[in-house]
Amino acid sequence: MAGIAFDQRDGEIWYNGVFVPWKDAKLHVLTHGLHYASCVFEGERAYGGEVFKLEEHTERLHTSANVLGFELPYSSEEINAATRELLARQNLVDAYVRPVAWRGSEMMGVSAQHNRINVAIAAWEWPSYFKPEERLKGIRLDMAEYRRPDPMTAPYKSKAAGLYMICTLSKHAAERKGYADALMLDWRGQVAEATGANVFFIKDGKIHTPTPDCFLDGITRRTVIDLARARGFEVIERVIMPEEMEGFEQCFLTGTAAEVTPVSEIGPYNFQVGEITKVLMEDYHASVQPVADIKAAAAG
Ligand SMILES: Cc1ncc(COP(=O)(O)O)c(C=O)c1O
Repeated sequence: MAGIAFDQRDGEIWYNGVFVPWKDAKLHVLTHGLHYASCVFEGERAYGGEVFKLEEHTERLHTSANVLGFELPYSSEEINAATRELLARQNLVDAYVRPVAWRGSEMMGVSAQHNRINVAIAAWEWPSYFKPEERLKGIRLDMAEYRRPDPMTAPYKSKAAGLYMICTLSKHAAERKGYADALMLDWRGQVAEATGANVFFIKDGKIHTPTPDCFLDGITRRTVIDLARARGFEVIERVIMPEEMEGFEQCFLTGTAAEVTPVSEIGPYNFQVGEITKVLMEDYHASVQPVADIKAAAAG
């Protein structure tokens, strides 16, 4: 097991409006969010002490909660201020930030109309993965058995804990076979995404990515599309069938945790880590740096 268990660390966690000692940030076993997955969360990264696109992540947390039928009892301004204060109190510079909101313990059953909505934010050190020599080899993905569900059967616009059940199952199965991750198709059999990241392909200088109509339209995904278009690359969002992977030359994943990660293999299909992937890795790395640092670098 890597590192100190997450319930045994030192520091503080913002919990329902106050900073509590890390080890005291507990909840009861009879918590609705635990039993019925009435829980939403975010995954954010701080670079140089600032969370990249904090406002967008906080907005998505609110949207995720609304899609699951509840309101966060804190405004975006309060959550953003709490996040910034948490980073400062924890002396964190390059960090992962995990806001989470869930229905509490007042009622225990499928219906929990009046349960308290709890919100917590934790942050821990997480240096940027940007080690070109390692990442440039590309990661290997298995094909997942589970598929992203039909929007009629799951609230896909919410970053809801319940939607990760099939992701953990798929990632565990892939890891048992020696792969880093798994590519999930959707319920129609179209290419969807990896278990915690979006997917892109490149062929003849053009970038192709599945239309996010049943999976998360990642903040990194949108950032990378903008960066690619700013470089003059054509980005095509469309239906991609798995057999098409045979003809793609390059592939990469995008996500807050994954950043831009080249892929060398998906099941029987192989890809090179090519120039366009490398350029987008570098552009993304540059774009996540805090504005103050970029200005300082430009001023020499
Ligand atoms: C299932 C899934 N898809 C895609 C993403 C990428 O989203 P983002 O770029 O907003 O981190 C994530 C990560 O949050 C994810 O968990």
